[in-house]
Amino acid sequence: MSRLSPAARKALLTLHLVTALGWLGADLVLLTLGVAGLRGADSAVVYPTAGLVVTYLFAPLSVVVWLVGVASSLLTPWGLLRWRWVLVKFVLTTVMLGLVLLLLTPTVRGLAELGPAVTSRDRLDLVIPPAVSTSVLLVATVLSTYKPWGRRGAPAGRRRPVAAGRPS
Ligand code: HEM
Repeated sequence: MSRLSPAARKALLTLHLVTALGWLGADLVLLTLGVAGLRGADSAVVYPTAGLVVTYLFAPLSVVVWLVGVASSLLTPWGLLRWRWVLVKFVLTTVMLGLVLLLLTPTVRGLAELGPAVTSRDRLDLVIPPAVSTSVLLVATVLSTYKPWGRRGAPAGRRRPVAAGRPS
């Protein structure tokens, strides 16, 4: 049963969409900077800019998306562990949060400090990880709209979500 009024639930969903898809947008910005660096754009500009994007936008958003996503599950009838699409999104986002905070953020800050001294090998660090994470976020978005696989532990006949894809 939902613990939120319909208006509060819509507000929470709006916050979830703005933060999660903003996260995807910030990831695309990092990927764009990485491709620009690979194509020979001025590394004294590209990598310090990427450092700012990671520090002030991407890493903080990762935490906010995780928190708002978990709240969107626990405060609505979806629950966190009940529906497969929610559980898979939760796992993907949790793994990504860990990788962003423990690996990507320090790596990109290191590139920002190197600036003009980055090597061609270093440049790939701002292309491959954002390409992978953007793909993960696209998968999360598709899972959210299609809501596949039904409910965990439900008998075969009851594996599909309710008609509107949204339990009341
Ligand atoms: C901790 C991670 C996450 C959890 C637990 C989670 C959970 C949820 C839940 C329960 C809803 C339904 C909310 C409602 O009906 O009021 C939802 C909606 C949605 N989520 Fe997430 N989410 C997470 C991360 C993400 C990410 C990373 C993205 C995309 C980048 C995303 C995209 C969406 C979209 C587009 C919807 C709207 C679906 C619709 O209304 O049909 N979510 N999420």
